Amino acid sequence: MKHGIIILAAGKGTRMKSSLPKVLHPVGGKPMIAHLTTLALEQGQTPIVIYGHQGQALKDALGEQTITWVEQKAQLGTGHAVQQTLPHLDDDTLYYILVGDAPLIRAETLKQLGRCASDSGIAVLTVTTDQPFGYGRIIRDSSDAVSRIVEEKDASAQEKAIGEINSGIFAVRGELLKALLPKLTNDNAQGEYYLTDMVALANQAGHPVAAHCIADISEVMGCNNKVQLAELERIYQRRQTQQLMLDGATLADPARVDIRGQVEVGSDCFIDVNAVFIGEVTLGDNVYIGPNCIIENSCIDSHTIVKANCVLEEASIGQSANIGPFARIRPKTRLADNTKIGNFVETKNAQIAEGSKVNHLSYVGDAIVEGNVNIGAGTITCNYDGVNKHLTTIKSGAFIGSNSALVAPVTIGNNVTVAAGSTITNDTGDNELAIARARQSVIKDWQAPQKNKDKP
Ligand code: UD1
Ligand code: CA
Repeated sequence: MKHGIIILAAGKGTRMKSSLPKVLHPVGGKPMIAHLTTLALEQGQTPIVIYGHQGQALKDALGEQTITWVEQKAQLGTGHAVQQTLPHLDDDTLYYILVGDAPLIRAETLKQLGRCASDSGIAVLTVTTDQPFGYGRIIRDSSDAVSRIVEEKDASAQEKAIGEINSGIFAVRGELLKALLPKLTNDNAQGEYYLTDMVALANQAGHPVAAHCIADISEVMGCNNKVQLAELERIYQRRQTQQLMLDGATLADPARVDIRGQVEVGSDCFIDVNAVFIGEVTLGDNVYIGPNCIIENSCIDSHTIVKANCVLEEASIGQSANIGPFARIRPKTRLADNTKIGNFVETKNAQIAEGSKVNHLSYVGDAIVEGNVNIGAGTITCNYDGVNKHLTTIKSGAFIGSNSALVAPVTIGNNVTVAAGSTITNDTGDNELAIARARQSVIKDWQAPQKNKDKP
């Protein structure tokens, strides 16, 4: 049977107290709803997303994904939301109905739910918990079959004591959905069309409702406020760091590493506390990441050391490089093997070839630095004239003395020495000494000024 995915995302999310629609709040750096649409797309399915509030914001956020958008103009309940998809439903497709504010569901669990629905055409995903408050409760009959779902607000004291809850996630055959959805009413405590009422209706129509009961509530945990959002974030991060450790990384403390994207690691990487990984990050074998590093969309090859407090963004780093502490590696930095970038060095759009060093307090931007160059402390590539950016080229073996300004566009030849404190505005040939600073003058027997003790 074909499969489809329907995602409910029309609710306002009032309790988030935010101008951002609830399902766009991020978990692991990605909007909650994007976790679900991505899951659908990974299964080769075009998700049907039911939107209401700020539909344009949703469309903008998921702009690159192929989605069937269905509008629910007024939010009259979860059942009413799914009713809006009726014109899109196909009889012989098994639809998974997901809630947009519960982003941690796994594909494997959905597959199991789908298998449960294969006989009668409808299954609900349930969880047993000792904290069922707020959720719909699963009511079973004397033979333990699921007979209906009762919402918290409609439940009797006896029903509220039930610990098996409705995750909000269902698998239902299209044909059955088409038969059941029009029968929903809003005769309940909230005056809403409850999707959960289709359970009792299915039973009446001769379709017993299967339940797939899972033990781990974290997978279906919903998000109604910022407290729950933080809980979801921690659950998600625990998953991510567990995977990283299973992939072979050693984490000083898995609770203090955040992954907002995808990290791939080779063997024997070590990651210290408070590392934040954003976007796509790849680490080779034996990479060492010191404490408090932020690494975004970067690739770091084997045996490289990134010391404490470095920020890397869109960088590509070779093998056995040595970076930091306190280095800022900005977009389009390419560091070759055995390079060294020391403290308080900023690089941007810079290629630095093998064996070159920028050890202290420098800015290297819009630069090509060939191999075995030594850039002294406080060197600045003056790349910007106020309007345009210009290139600095430093050829191999050059030695740039401390506190030099290289005013781009400029080329420093092979094996050139730039004297400390120089401001270089002209290209140099190979093997030259370039010195561009005022000569030192000396006044002999200089009397330093004395303080006049007579005057106050
Ligand atoms: C719902 C279930 C409850 C279940 C819980 C699991 C119903 C009636 N209740 O309750 O049994 O335990 O989820 O988290 O289904 N939405 C719309 N349009 C609407 C109303 C809601 O699209 O008119 C969307 C919301 O954006 C949200 C989802 O449906 O993504 C669930 O709505 P919510 O109001 O959070 O339902 P709960 O009260 O949590
Ligand atoms: Ca909810």
